[in-house]
Amino acid sequence: MQNIGTIKKAKGKTPLTVITAYDSLFASMFNKKTDMILVGDSLNMSFNNKPDTLSASLEIMIYHTNAVCKGAPDTFTICDMPFGTYTDEKMALKNASRVYQETPAHAVKIEGGIERAHIIKALTNNSIAVMGHIGLMPQYVRSEGGYKVRGKNEEDTLQLIADAKAVEKAGAFAMVIEGVKTDAAKRISEAISIPTIGIGAGKDTDGQVLVWSDMLGFFQEFQPKFVKKYLNGSEIVKNAVDEYVKDVQTRKFPAEKHTY
Ligand code: KIV
Repeated sequence: MQNIGTIKKAKGKTPLTVITAYDSLFASMFNKKTDMILVGDSLNMSFNNKPDTLSASLEIMIYHTNAVCKGAPDTFTICDMPFGTYTDEKMALKNASRVYQETPAHAVKIEGGIERAHIIKALTNNSIAVMGHIGLMPQYVRSEGGYKVRGKNEEDTLQLIADAKAVEKAGAFAMVIEGVKTDAAKRISEAISIPTIGIGAGKDTDGQVLVWSDMLGFFQEFQPKFVKKYLNGSEIVKNAVDEYVKDVQTRKFPAEKHTY
């Protein structure tokens, strides 16, 4: 299993692999497959059909993190801190401590750059491992007026590099770079010494993360450009359920071998 030390040392070597998971069943299929599992607050959208991640609560994240850790006990697991649970150092420390005390998660993830560096520092100073998250930050969707790709010009790229440096200096062991132009993400990755995990940030980050229900084709609402679909999960499930319904209606199921 990876740990903070091996994850940090992976920079510049074989790209790190991260997948999200929300429940024990799927997490058990991902166990030991990827370097890390992220219990992302994206579950609020893909699992809970909410329009954004903002209404995910700490209780929800703790519940799902416990389920994931149960299914994937041999994989380094990160719990996303939900919106509104880390607005100041004291609150962040109280809530991130709850994650450590109430789940076996190895780390927490926090969205934000320079403006959140003091929060990250408050956690890392108190032995809580933090993964940063810069670039397009879904928890900022309402204040920013939408999901906007970042790093489209020099000024924004320099801002992102400054954000990444601040997050690194605050003690984060790695950071997600989401929705950033490939060139900008490359420059950010080169500017810091901790691994960058990209999502919609091109091929030059130190690793990649995808939301499991997107990459396995279960989430059907929309498909972002950066998602590669490795399975047509929803089609497979729908066809199987159709077949089951037909079998029951035609008395093909249960067959002799399914009965006592
Ligand atoms: O919530 C999530 O799944 C995430 C990933 C998109 C990185 O933050």
